[in-house]
Amino acid sequence: MNENILGLEGRRVLVTAGAAGIGLHIAEAFRKAGARVMVTDINPKVVEQARTAGFIAEVNDVSDEKQVTELAEQVREAFGGLDVLVNNAGIAGPTGPVSTLDSEVWKQTFDVNVHGQFYCIKHLLPLLRQGHQASIVNLSSAAGRLGMAGRSPYSASKWAVIGLTKTLAIELGAESIRVNAICPGAVNGPRIESVIEAKAEMLGQPVSEVSALYHGQSSLNRLVEPEDIANMAVFLASSMASNVNGQAMAVDGNTEKLY
Ligand SMILES: NC(=O)c1ccc[n+]([C@@H]2O[C@H](COP(=O)([O-])OP(=O)(O)OC[C@H]3O[C@@H](n4cnc5c(N)ncnc54)[C@H](O)[C@@H]3O)[C@@H](O)[C@H]2O)c1
Repeated sequence: MNENILGLEGRRVLVTAGAAGIGLHIAEAFRKAGARVMVTDINPKVVEQARTAGFIAEVNDVSDEKQVTELAEQVREAFGGLDVLVNNAGIAGPTGPVSTLDSEVWKQTFDVNVHGQFYCIKHLLPLLRQGHQASIVNLSSAAGRLGMAGRSPYSASKWAVIGLTKTLAIELGAESIRVNAICPGAVNGPRIESVIEAKAEMLGQPVSEVSALYHGQSSLNRLVEPEDIANMAVFLASSMASNVNGQAMAVDGNTEKLY
């Protein structure tokens, strides 16, 4: 991507769960585009690594509203306002048939994946209102537009993200704040390996067979790379997407069925 046509130079960006995984790739892509990037993560170890890599980085749990109010204060101190919020934090949740799921673990999945995005939007909105061409990018999933057997809390939470995105695109559109979602397919990395292992255990099948099914979910017969998600996040926040609002953008190589 030609960084100069993105209009992201000097823009102030916050990426939640941005010190590891897909979030770190998103943070790096925004930095490459000339943005000023802050990341937050629940894990102090990866936050320290992000600081070493030159990011402004703070430890926060997005599922704890009080910690999100503190995060908003940290962003205000660091940047004085905010132009882009990337709501990336999300957990895989439990794997199993619905009757076996622990209700507390179900709630925990929503606490991070849905309530966390709500808290961040609510408490960072005053700073986004002071921002320049502000926008919000929410991480949903292919499981946010398709069903996924054995992953009901995750899938339900990611459908909720799309409902939140489409609703806020209308509400905040009047203030020229755009809100979009990204729906990644299975992304190459450590998390998908543990998801595949849990699914193999549930189905009683070899990990290699379930892994092949996950690759075959995409018409391209391969996993999505974290850079693909970062590219979409940068595009959605850029001036190239100035008329893109309320969309759930699939980055999944074309996926019609999930295992
Ligand atoms: N990995 C995939 O295949 C995939 C596919 C579709 C969608 N997604 C979505 O993309 C996003 C990022 O996924 P990932 O694979 O990089 O995740 P990951 O499991 O690798 O976690 C990335 C980071 O999130 C942090 N985190 C966890 N809970 C947090 C909390 N409460 N507050 C702050 N930080 C927290 C972790 O400490 C970790 O550093 C998630 O929303 C996920 O649901 C991932």
